[in-house]
Amino acid sequence: MTTRSATLTAGQAHGARERAAIAAKTLRTDRWWFAPLITVVGLGAWVTYATVRVFMHKWYWVDEHHYLTPFYSPCVTERCVPEAAHFGRILPGWWIIPDAALTLPFLLLFRLTCYYYRKAYYRAFWLSPPACAVPDGHKTYSGETRFPLIFQNAHRYAFYAAAIISVINTWDAVLAFRSGDEFGFGLGNVILVGNVVMLWAYTLSCHSCRHIAGGRLKHFSKHPVRYRFWTFVSKLNVRHMQLAWITLGTLAFTDFYIMALDANWISDLRFIN
Ligand code: FES
Repeated sequence: MTTRSATLTAGQAHGARERAAIAAKTLRTDRWWFAPLITVVGLGAWVTYATVRVFMHKWYWVDEHHYLTPFYSPCVTERCVPEAAHFGRILPGWWIIPDAALTLPFLLLFRLTCYYYRKAYYRAFWLSPPACAVPDGHKTYSGETRFPLIFQNAHRYAFYAAAIISVINTWDAVLAFRSGDEFGFGLGNVILVGNVVMLWAYTLSCHSCRHIAGGRLKHFSKHPVRYRFWTFVSKLNVRHMQLAWITLGTLAFTDFYIMALDANWISDLRFIN
């Protein structure tokens, strides 16, 4: 009893926020650095690949099977192949303008402000902190209530944009079932549809979506439809981290497959037409 009182008094004297007087930087002996390291490697590789592809301005459309890579959807610059420009060619074809310039900024905003990615890159790139019970890499911490991180609150609005973009990706996947003027079905369709399903799962598992579905309700019993949707979204939500990574994989794989087809490195495996 005496020891506890003495400790509290010392703690209060130094302020409750001060770190305990332990010389070691952390007492963790497990591989706490592994998760941030994997995040740096994974996100770094993906961003590099995506940046190169977005500014490559070629190998994004397989005319024979109407496959359009999600990195160029919707294709809206004057440089776009007319058949791939499902929403018109309304922007100039300057090199610096991505062909999907109308959607990429919103997708970037959606991912950058995502609650999971925030945790991942705060830890991995900003070391703030790199892991639980490991000291912060910075002396001060202003949180997300001030500039610039207060803009992370835009996430709820980015969600609506991402949902619209998922509809566009779905439309691309539907259009890809035409080969020439007939119905067609190949491995590319399986990949495009698989990517779209995963994109919807990631988008709907968003924390903002969960709040839209079931937030601010006092009685679930009076809103059975919203309750059912909230229950469905909640099940996806617990997999949000996995879906965040899976969709990075399906996006890059879909893009790479379409690039390989358009560049004639491989040919599509066709099941019908
Ligand atoms: Fe991750 Fe909304 S919280 S997409």
